[in-house]
Amino acid sequence: MRTSQQWLEHFEKNLEVRRIDWNIAPAIKKRERDKILNSSQAWQLGETSEGRNLLHASTLYSNRIGDPVYPKAVSLFIKEEQKHGNNLGKYLDLIGEKRIQKDWGDSLFRKIRYFNSSMELWTLAVITVESTAQLFYQSLKDATGCVLLKQICTDILIDEASHIDFQFERFFIIYQNKSLPSQLLSIVFYTAFYFATILVVWFAHKKAFKAGGNNFRRYWLKMSLKYKKTIGRLNKTLKEQKNVKTKKSSLVATRATNA
Ligand SMILES: [Fe+2]
Ligand SMILES: [Fe+2]
Repeated sequence: MRTSQQWLEHFEKNLEVRRIDWNIAPAIKKRERDKILNSSQAWQLGETSEGRNLLHASTLYSNRIGDPVYPKAVSLFIKEEQKHGNNLGKYLDLIGEKRIQKDWGDSLFRKIRYFNSSMELWTLAVITVESTAQLFYQSLKDATGCVLLKQICTDILIDEASHIDFQFERFFIIYQNKSLPSQLLSIVFYTAFYFATILVVWFAHKKAFKAGGNNFRRYWLKMSLKYKKTIGRLNKTLKEQKNVKTKKSSLVATRATNA
C-alpha cells in the first residue's frame, strides 16, 4: 500500500514521461477504422471529463480521514485521464474524424457521477470502468497495424495499470473499515455492479472488442479474471493483513518473554 504522498509523486513523475512519437504518421486501414471508430470516439469523450465531482468527493473524504494530500493525488489521476482523452482526440484529428460531443454511455455515466459524492461508490465505479478500459485499449491496439495508434494505446495501458492499483488501495481502505455484515452486503453489491456494468460495456463496444480478437466468451473470461484481481481480492487482502498483524504481535510477545 502506498501513501497519498507516494501516489502524488508517482503521478507527477509519470506525467513527465513521453511514450508517443507524434512524428509517426497515422496509418490506419479503412476496414480497421470501420470497426473501431465509434468506440474510439466514445472513449475519447469519456476520458475528457473535468472530474469535478470526483475531486469534490475526494475532498470531502480526505477532510473526514485527515489526509489532505489525497485530493492532490486524485487531481493528477484526473489529469492523466484527460491526457488519454487529448491523445485520442489528437489522433482522431489526424485521421480526419470528428470528436463527438455526446454519447449515451458517457451521458449515463456522467449522470451517475453527478449525484455521487461517496468515495466508496466512486472507487467502485472507477475500478469497474478502468478494468473494461484495459481490455478495450488492448483490443484497440490488437485491432490495428497503425504504429501511432498502438503507441497511444500502450501509453494508456501503462497508466491504467497504476490507476487500478491506486483505486484498489483506496477501495480496500474503505472496505477494511466496515463491519463484517456490511462487508458481506457490500461484496454482493460490488459484484452485481461490476458484472452488470461490464455487460453494458460489451454491448456498447462489442465491435471493437471483436476486432481485437475478443468474442463474448473471451471478454467475459478476461473480465472475470480482472474481477478476481480487484473486488474479488478484497477479502484475500484483508486476511493477509490480519495474518501480518498476528505474526507481528506474536513476535513482540516472544521478544517480551525472552527479555
Ligand atoms: Fe484513461
Ligand atoms: Fe484510468
